Amino acid sequence: MALLGVNIDHVATLRQNRFTPYPDPVKAAQICEKAGADGITVHLREDRRHIQESDCLKLKKTIKTKLNLEMSLADDIVAFALKLKPNDACIVPEKRRELTTEGGLDVFKYREKLSRIIPALQKNKTRVSLFIEPDIKTIELSKKLGADCVELHTGKYANLKGIKQKRELERIKKAVQFGNKIGLIVNAGHGLNYDNIKAIAKIKQIHEFNIGHSIISYSIFWGLFEAVRKMKNLV
Ligand code: PXP
Repeated sequence: MALLGVNIDHVATLRQNRFTPYPDPVKAAQICEKAGADGITVHLREDRRHIQESDCLKLKKTIKTKLNLEMSLADDIVAFALKLKPNDACIVPEKRRELTTEGGLDVFKYREKLSRIIPALQKNKTRVSLFIEPDIKTIELSKKLGADCVELHTGKYANLKGIKQKRELERIKKAVQFGNKIGLIVNAGHGLNYDNIKAIAKIKQIHEFNIGHSIISYSIFWGLFEAVRKMKNLV
């Protein structure tokens, strides 16, 4: 059975919107774990738009499963990851203005930097993953650079429809099989929701799915009734 890592960034998005103490990502992580999450994922973005360093430190101390830190190659982020020593680190590309991570990491462009940072993280027993497009040459280079895992960017699959989506799913399937064959753990994530997960979850060799936005979004509807009822009683 594939593992589920829950990305709780958008719990912090809501908190940072007003700088209130709630909703607390630590509390969210506890609920996710209770519901069966196999890991908690957070992205410490360069602009700190949601998750903060203090969240990561608290999560590291409190979570019972494993912490996966999504991180760019910016010097201060790398320095923090080396201090945090998360169970997993997933290196992602990052642009300041993007709404969310657009596309996979250009492993060819950053091969020099990656060949220094991957072993530095691994020295702390952090398992290193690269967030990449489902592309054979990129997977090959990820292995050469010493990554333990790759996470395949499923954003394209999530946004396409019909035959185009089926073709992208086939591309992902081939990439997963190739990654497995050369000894990589292959994860997948981005844009996955309660509909599009069904077909991709049939690819048995995917080790872990990292899903955030859809889970946090739907939790509003699956919790709104109780939230209104409680306030109505108080009013
Ligand atoms: N995996 C990676 C590497 C990501 O950067 C993100 C988004 O932060 C996700 C998974 C989760 O994507 P979504 O929030 O669309 O489920």
